[in-house]
Amino acid sequence: MAVNKESVCMLPDIQFVQRPGIIEFGWGHLAAELLPDTELLHAATWVLSRDAYPALTYGFAQGPGRLLALLAERLAVPETELMITGGTSQALDMLCKQLTKPGDVVLVEAPTYHLALRIFRDYGLRFVTVPGDQQGLHVTAVTTLVKMLRSRGERVAFLYLVPSFNNPSGVTLNAERRAELARLALALDLTVIEDEAYAELWYDAPPPPPIASFAPGGSLIRLGSFAKVLAPGLRLGWMQAPASLIQRCVHAGMLDSGGGVNHFTAHVVWALLQAGDFEPHVLHLRAALRARRDTLLAALARAMPAGVTWRPPLGGFFVWLRAPSTIDTTALLTHAEAAGVSYIPGERFYAGGGGRNELRLAFSMLPPDDLVEGARRLGQVLKQALQRA
Ligand SMILES: Cc1ncc(COP(=O)(O)O)c(C=O)c1O
Repeated sequence: MAVNKESVCMLPDIQFVQRPGIIEFGWGHLAAELLPDTELLHAATWVLSRDAYPALTYGFAQGPGRLLALLAERLAVPETELMITGGTSQALDMLCKQLTKPGDVVLVEAPTYHLALRIFRDYGLRFVTVPGDQQGLHVTAVTTLVKMLRSRGERVAFLYLVPSFNNPSGVTLNAERRAELARLALALDLTVIEDEAYAELWYDAPPPPPIASFAPGGSLIRLGSFAKVLAPGLRLGWMQAPASLIQRCVHAGMLDSGGGVNHFTAHVVWALLQAGDFEPHVLHLRAALRARRDTLLAALARAMPAGVTWRPPLGGFFVWLRAPSTIDTTALLTHAEAAGVSYIPGERFYAGGGGRNELRLAFSMLPPDDLVEGARRLGQVLKQALQRA
């Protein structure tokens, strides 16, 4: 096949594009040096040299049995309640396809993972936000909202939440509320999707057990991803859900036609887990990310003007900053980028409005010097904005 090399080279290879002179706090990606390339090389070599055929042919729709068995043991759930996904994004897309129709309501946290909102919008879903505090969402509000919406004849497709080290706020739903939410989900026949993207990346203490563990039998769906603990380019994750829902997803035409998603990658990740390389890597990652978090927190304490507040995140990738109410972080972004620092404005994480004076900083990708210099630049920009206000 003839390949036009010039036009191929015009396209970027990766999602992240480094803009010259800008310290990019906006991207929730792992730094290159934190990716387990050596472990993956060993795993891929093992797969290709020892067991190439099962890894290279079409895969089982639910995911390779060997990875399902290993995950079932690690997560202590039956294999019938698990399937391999192409990461959480693909799982959310697949769930929307299976569980929703245009016009349905999705309950979301405020703030919540902004790109999940993008996926939900693709399916014509409408948002209702559930209020929360530093312990996570208010579970009693879920009951009130579900009853109110249903009494109006609205269909509530599901509640989506990031209960551990929320993106962007860093908040973790406490154990009592998890148990209560699981009980409510059962009582209300409400589907709950818990996105556990950061659950393994804790820096002080592990998060409480997953919501799904509190009420077996309920319509509780738990999504895990290897994007944050191994590498996002693997496009691999898993879903835990009632066996009936797993069967519905597994019988989708896409999987019948193409086999299991990211089948080769699934074999490589299985080999990495099997080799015992996962735990040491996660320990290393936690230590490295904890150090980056602490560097950023110390730099913020030095650089931020009075009135700007944040809470130390206990896990995950992000620090969530709140500026005085006179600051509009969307408008301020142009000034910040002119000063050589970027972030994501808070408004993008709110489905129903809000977050005008908030912003998200990711510490997962930047080296310590950039974390310090980026905080200094942002502090200056905020100081000037407060003087103008
Ligand atoms: C809360 C949350 N869920 C899901 C994702 C995406 O996961 P994946 O790469 O597995 O699709 C992200 C990535 O930023 C995230 O922060």
